[in-house]
Amino acid sequence: MSDIAETRPGRYLFQKADICDAAVVRGLFEKYGIDTVCHFAAESHVDRSILKPDSFIQTNIIGTFNLLEAARARGKEFRLFHHISTDEVYGSLGPVGAFTEETPYRPNSPYSASKASSDHLVRAYHETYGLPTTLSNCSNNYGPYQFPEKLIPLVTLNALEEKPLPVYGDGKNVRDWLYVTDHCEAIRQIMEKGRRGETYNIGGHAEMENIVIVEMICDLVDEYAPSPKGDSRRRLISFVKDRPGHDRRYAIDFKKLHEELGWSPAESFASGLRKTVRWYLDHLPWSERIRSGEYQSWIKEQYGNR
Ligand code: TYD
Repeated sequence: MSDIAETRPGRYLFQKADICDAAVVRGLFEKYGIDTVCHFAAESHVDRSILKPDSFIQTNIIGTFNLLEAARARGKEFRLFHHISTDEVYGSLGPVGAFTEETPYRPNSPYSASKASSDHLVRAYHETYGLPTTLSNCSNNYGPYQFPEKLIPLVTLNALEEKPLPVYGDGKNVRDWLYVTDHCEAIRQIMEKGRRGETYNIGGHAEMENIVIVEMICDLVDEYAPSPKGDSRRRLISFVKDRPGHDRRYAIDFKKLHEELGWSPAESFASGLRKTVRWYLDHLPWSERIRSGEYQSWIKEQYGNR
């Protein structure tokens, strides 16, 4: 494969490689003199982790270990390892309260357990080897270019195509939604100014029930692309069997990030969702490419028997 693409000569280089391949990772760190890592690479979809946990253990745990080892091997030249993680490591909340950086870990899915494990490794490398690290645990991301296995793009594209909109259980599970560019800005600030060895929670200040989001998406798709049937896409909402171990509610307290670094989200959920739905409707060829091939068999396996 053509593994290297240099799109902005001297500034940006893309190398396609597997973080589970320790020798390749180590080689890249040496070849390019890498001194800073922002580690996003992960298997991230809970439903996939329930059906096939293996790749989650490999990529999220072994992959992170390989990156940490490659960073450690750089010795004093290494400057920062930033690890991207999730609020799901904290488990599920009742109707009130929010996760802080002090909330004990209580992961409930193979996905969140694998992320919790990688968080512990990052922390241990700081404590044991003095590796300069920062760690962030964010809430549910949304926005352009999200893989259409996730709730918001899945429902947007299904609504446009007049397909059923699968809502798990009673639809009252709550997530705290973070617009992707707000997340990126928080990461930039943590990497630039965050205290080494620390964890920062990142939230969107946008707690929503799934069913409310699905209804909002229906209304936005109706507005931008009225149904040929002339009625509301809300008729497509279909309550399906719940996800096993489905966490009821997540909410993030990001006071530490706000007070130490001055960050807070710029996007409201209403404006972020509108932009996101608009983006998917304007980029159908992108989704089409993604949703061919392997995606089809995933959808069949995941939703076929619900
Ligand atoms: P998801 O986008 O998979 O993120 P996460 O599991 O990391 O929170 O799901 C968001 C919420 O939407 C979650 O409570 C599960 C629910 N959901 C559905 O109801 N139907 C679906 O088809 C999907 C993918 C998710």
